[in-house]
Amino acid sequence: MKPESNITHIDGELHVTGKTKYLLESPMPQGTLVMQPVFSTYASADILLINYDEVLSIPGVVTVLTHKDIPGINQIGVIEFDEPLLPEDKVSYIGQPVAIIVCTNKESCTTALSKVKIKYNPHTPILTIKEAEKQNSFFDYKQEVKRDNPDKAFEKCDHIIEEEITGGAQDHLYLETQRVLVVPDEGNHYFIYSATQSPTEIQSVVSRILGIKSKDITVDVKRLGGAFGGKERKATIFASLAALASYHTGKPVYFIMSRQDDMKYTGKRHPFKTKYKVGFDKNGKILAAKFQLTTNGGAYTDLSTAVLERFVLNIDGSYFIPNIGIKARIAKTNLPPNTAFRGFGAPQAFFSIEHIIERIAFKLKKDPIEIRIINAYKEEQPAPYGQKIKETFIIESLEKLKNNSNYTSLKKDIENFNKTHKFEKKGIGVVSLKFGISFTSKFLNQGSALVWIYTDGTVSVSHGAVEMGQEVNTKIAQIVANEFGLDITRIRVESTNTKRVANTSPTAASTAVDLNGSAALKAAQKIKQRLISQATKLFNGKCNKNDVYFQNNKIFCKQSGKSITFEELASSAYFNRINLGAQEFYRTPGIGFDREKGKGNPFYYYVYGAALSVVKVDLLTGMYKVEKTYIVHEDGNPINNHIDIGQIQGAYIQGMGWATMEEIIYDNNGNNLAANTSVYKIPTYSDTPEVFEVETIKKNRKFASVLGSKGVGEPPFIYGLSVIYALQNAIESISNYKKEAILHLPATPEKVLLEITKQK
Ligand code: HPA
Repeated sequence: MKPESNITHIDGELHVTGKTKYLLESPMPQGTLVMQPVFSTYASADILLINYDEVLSIPGVVTVLTHKDIPGINQIGVIEFDEPLLPEDKVSYIGQPVAIIVCTNKESCTTALSKVKIKYNPHTPILTIKEAEKQNSFFDYKQEVKRDNPDKAFEKCDHIIEEEITGGAQDHLYLETQRVLVVPDEGNHYFIYSATQSPTEIQSVVSRILGIKSKDITVDVKRLGGAFGGKERKATIFASLAALASYHTGKPVYFIMSRQDDMKYTGKRHPFKTKYKVGFDKNGKILAAKFQLTTNGGAYTDLSTAVLERFVLNIDGSYFIPNIGIKARIAKTNLPPNTAFRGFGAPQAFFSIEHIIERIAFKLKKDPIEIRIINAYKEEQPAPYGQKIKETFIIESLEKLKNNSNYTSLKKDIENFNKTHKFEKKGIGVVSLKFGISFTSKFLNQGSALVWIYTDGTVSVSHGAVEMGQEVNTKIAQIVANEFGLDITRIRVESTNTKRVANTSPTAASTAVDLNGSAALKAAQKIKQRLISQATKLFNGKCNKNDVYFQNNKIFCKQSGKSITFEELASSAYFNRINLGAQEFYRTPGIGFDREKGKGNPFYYYVYGAALSVVKVDLLTGMYKVEKTYIVHEDGNPINNHIDIGQIQGAYIQGMGWATMEEIIYDNNGNNLAANTSVYKIPTYSDTPEVFEVETIKKNRKFASVLGSKGVGEPPFIYGLSVIYALQNAIESISNYKKEAILHLPATPEKVLLEITKQK
């Protein structure tokens, strides 16, 4: 039996009535102090002096702490140990915390902030990939994947295109800014309530900073007001700073970041540059390609190596490229360390390869969908890293997309429109999706859950994932409710807590339900077996175990038709000393990627789909509107189709934002000039396509996860890129396909206008 696919959000009523509790919305313990970091005002400088004499006499200021006050190891890096919590002698980005002020109230900290005197010896910062190239500033990490001989294959190609394309950063702009509350307990133990996607990382990094053990730290997360990757690593620094303050004062300490500080000082999606050479035949079939991929990692490694890996592993997109060479590196700059963001390197890859497809189609004057189809992976064809692409749905998605959008007549209508409109043009853009699901670091592909049944027939579920609006809790509640034949209202999904579920992986990489839902299912199945044995006893030993089934909050015997309620069975199990709880664990089978060799099976399965957008561009202003969007998305056997559609729509809009309007500009000193919602433009309701049709395709798949479902968080972000190709297509219609339009990302109206002027 499958869970009901249309069940609503378990906390929906709380959300819409404003009763949901987010972190720091409940009264804080008496005597709670507030922490304020002193952020570096230079992107690159030596620290000559920190003087806070004046500050300590300000009423309400409790203490000021610097790196000297760290009792443990001053290090918050996890992939590389290269990031101090508080720097000793130099700062590497604007916004790097240099010290913290701890106060009884926020106003005192605000007054104190301007009174801390830091003397710097500033250096010229490196901010861009271009500058990093000039100065040869890269992290000591490179990645390569190669198959056959692209150089030789280029010789046989009818056409070759060589080009560089670039893309910018993106702010996570979660509704809830960074925040944390640390509460000290007896015996040098700390409760940390953090807005994090990575509770275990916080537990281990804080223990390192404070020089105490993991057992002495409990991290608890009820829910986040959005995250999108921005709280996978970035929450760690603030939790560590607040813990340091709590350690020294013995008091609870909270920190809440202002919107502006959050936008200015936290890392973003990685800006990137793709340099490529691609060779293809007269039909548009790609025979060879070479890539040099570069990301802007910012000041410290953070997650940049893992992001780069996903960039490399997705650069083929949905297309089989027989001869391919990929080289990748990370520029070391003086920006806040760039970090995880929905898609995690894959959007950069898809933008690049889909751009190439568009270029090929333009050059050969062929339909871009046809170029996609002739290059699409066929069943069992291997990716450049060797994994065979199975249960493909690439060509089918594109064909379905053509059908759903009425492609032939849509194209005709647009041609007619463009012929009859001098100052407005329309265009069509398409992307095709093949997105591998699993963490590419194998060890992270594990999940755990703890399930308890109470004697009144209700169920408590704890799992290792963090709820951040993606509704992992609804899906896991459905999985457990379904297993016990219960209404979902009988299930309570608890906060994520490192004492109830330990050693959690970050809630990331679209894997939360796969990993933790699988573990919860196993835990429920384990208890169910015990309950079945007890049920046979209650059926007077006259019911075969195989004939016992759970449905509608009852347990039935198929033979006799007799039933008992779930609560009767739970209560009877308790009085007969049967364990009503289970902890279970899941690890993804059959995966493994050898980073050195660049070969292996990094992904358990792939998600497939395609998207088409139609835009209308005003040639006089560069302004545009997405008129129509069609998406086809294969999501296995969904646990909750409504949630999946919501994720697909939201991801599309977020992808379109990155591709077309979200622009972060830094001044020459490294100040983020777009650190405010009045100047950083994200898509709003009015940017939503007028026609927005999402079709999810249900398929029974061998390669899928819990109950046949597939992860949905990240892949559909890619669909939003279709807008940029639609813009190019509209611009190209001006000169009737004589000049190609090349839009680097984000394609803001200003850039669109510039490209329009080139066509005239
Ligand atoms: N997305 C994808 N892969 C990842 C992530 C993520 O956020 N974190 C670590 N690997």
